[in-house]
Amino acid sequence: MLTLTSAAQVTAVSKEARRAGQRIGFVPTMGALHAGHLSLIKTARAQSDVVIASVFVNPKQFGPNEDFTRYPRDPERDSAMLAAEKTDYFFLPSVEEMYPPGETTWVTVEGITDKLDGRSRPGHFRGVTTVVAKLFNIVQPDFAFFGQKDAAQVAIVNKMVRDLNFEVRIVVCPIVREPDGLAMSSRNAYLTPEQRKQATVLSRALMRVQSLVDRGEASSARLVVAGTQVMGEEAAVKLDYFEIVNRETLDPVSDVSRGALVAVAAYVGNTRLIDNIVVTGKGEAEGPR
Ligand code: PAJ
Repeated sequence: MLTLTSAAQVTAVSKEARRAGQRIGFVPTMGALHAGHLSLIKTARAQSDVVIASVFVNPKQFGPNEDFTRYPRDPERDSAMLAAEKTDYFFLPSVEEMYPPGETTWVTVEGITDKLDGRSRPGHFRGVTTVVAKLFNIVQPDFAFFGQKDAAQVAIVNKMVRDLNFEVRIVVCPIVREPDGLAMSSRNAYLTPEQRKQATVLSRALMRVQSLVDRGEASSARLVVAGTQVMGEEAAVKLDYFEIVNRETLDPVSDVSRGALVAVAAYVGNTRLIDNIVVTGKGEAEGPR
């Protein structure tokens, strides 16, 4: 694996590979890698000839009172983990490399970015779309791999790719969980042992909704009440949102009969955690048609 810190080097490597007829798979991350990230790398490895992974803690997607400075950083450990998964190129740019002095351009997807996490974290998604657009231009991948863990991010990146005619196929990979159900996240490292136990309430609330859907409940209002009730069982966990929405538009849906995204965000202490499930309603055909 070769580590590159300059955007121009990455573009050169990518162009060369494309000229040789190779398909390039790209996995953007903010590092502090865990098995969730590695599942993206594994999928990229299986589906592409050349795998490029990036680690960049993007200042533009953190709010003024968020955790940019204390976000976990361990590029050497990340590098070893990526090499072990047979990543070809590790792009590790500095903030100055990504945002040279004087740059003033943002990529803003409107409307959808004010929903779910975008409502609670104003400006967050414009930071995400700006850096992802830049990374796509630098890496010029055929495929880019994203986790379903960040469901709103997936919907917004998909929309940006459509709206701006990016020539990249977005591949969405399933959520990787700890044995007790907690979705893996770099931010789990912030949790005390006590909070780590409390944090399982997010996946427990989603499992409760899943079991009600399995038993035929389709009303979003009733499912949200049930999920919110489970969230209330952990007094120390402060709910941000519990919503049932359309996967692509992130607009609320009144019932799940055509399938829906059930998404939750909550604060465990100062740590904001998110999780979600996609339910396929009874009205939606399953399997091959
Ligand atoms: P980061 O939080 O590091 O996540 C990088 C990728 O890993 C994202 O696509 C995310 O959805 C995926 N991921 C994280 N936890 C996962 C899990 N438990 N299971 C499956 N996939 C998981 O998301 C970002 O970074 C940034 O916003 C980024 C896209 C890199 C732009 O800065």
